[in-house]
Amino acid sequence: MNFANSNIMITGGLGFIGSNLAIRLVGMNANVTLVDSLIPEYGGNLWNIEPIKDKIRVNISDVRDEHAMKYLIQGQDYLFNLAGQTSHVDSMNNPYPDLEINAKAQLSILEACRKYNPGVKLVFASTRQIYGAPQYLPVDEKHPLAPVDVNGINKMAGEWYHILYNNVYDIRASVLRLTNTYGPRMRVKDARQTFLGIWIRHIIEGEPLLVYGDGKQIRDFNYVDDVVDALLTCAESEDANGEIFNLGADDPINLKDTAQLLVDVAGSGLFTIVPFPQDRKAIDIGNYYADYRKIRAKLGWKPAVPLAEGLRRTTAYYREHRSHYWETDNDA
Ligand SMILES: NC(=O)c1ccc[n+]([C@@H]2O[C@H](COP(=O)([O-])OP(=O)(O)OC[C@H]3O[C@@H](n4cnc5c(N)ncnc54)[C@H](O)[C@@H]3O)[C@@H](O)[C@H]2O)c1
Repeated sequence: MNFANSNIMITGGLGFIGSNLAIRLVGMNANVTLVDSLIPEYGGNLWNIEPIKDKIRVNISDVRDEHAMKYLIQGQDYLFNLAGQTSHVDSMNNPYPDLEINAKAQLSILEACRKYNPGVKLVFASTRQIYGAPQYLPVDEKHPLAPVDVNGINKMAGEWYHILYNNVYDIRASVLRLTNTYGPRMRVKDARQTFLGIWIRHIIEGEPLLVYGDGKQIRDFNYVDDVVDALLTCAESEDANGEIFNLGADDPINLKDTAQLLVDVAGSGLFTIVPFPQDRKAIDIGNYYADYRKIRAKLGWKPAVPLAEGLRRTTAYYREHRSHYWETDNDA
């Protein structure tokens, strides 16, 4: 892959996946601009870019600001569009910010591209949440879309705006439907981004992990480096234009076994199986794992990092850097 000297903008670039992507791109000598609002409830964290902070441009702005987007998009070769409200529960408790960020702002970003930079190539981070409760497993891209929460509905609109602008205006765009992604730089102070985040915090603090339900819900997990590979592969491939791809893993695992694996990898800790809180039960999707054969066949992507190895790297990162993720703001 060659992104040297390319101008690359990452919305949500101070967040979990965006910052890992930025670090990789700086290593490839790309000119990287990060756009992020740093809303405290979301995953942005300036520490995420510590290794590259002198080698990138950071613009603290909100993707809902059409005027800012108009200027930021100009001159960019690639836009990795990762800014998002990611909490499913928050999207139910307060649906309007999710609508504005995950749907309306996506449309205005695409309008800015159409008017001011139609040659840009976009990659959009969508989510497996839009499938809702699976009707069959593994879930392929042809599975019906039936989101079970407001976040899923808005992310669905966000991804389809990208496909529409690809098809109607030739603004090249690809969509990845991410499954549970984990790794260094994810939000671990609470469960807003993923339950795995709070599990990792608890294991490092010596607190028991809470597994909801009966622990038999199956999930698939991607280590963040593998997701970065997929984002870059979509960006560089013209075959990805107008396409929607699932990401997934070869080793689906239930939540109880995931908790046990985390305890084993960490070398200590324990987990407790507890009833679902009502707000989570109402939007739970049951078992899920993806069929990712489309991206493997078309673009040659497959995940490389097994779950145990990824969890080992992740816990090592948070043991070293915990003060930047949950102790500094007195929320412990
Ligand atoms: N992590 C996962 O498991 C996962 C799964 C499915 C989809 N995704 C998608 O991938 C993308 C990146 O997710 P992540 O896990 O890195 O989450 P994250 O919360 O760490 O990153 C999102 C970033 O977007 C920023 N942001 C939010 N609203 C903004 C706004 N209005 N303007 C500017 N910046 C804003 C946040 O500050 C944050 O830094 C999201 O769109 C998410 O929906 C992630």
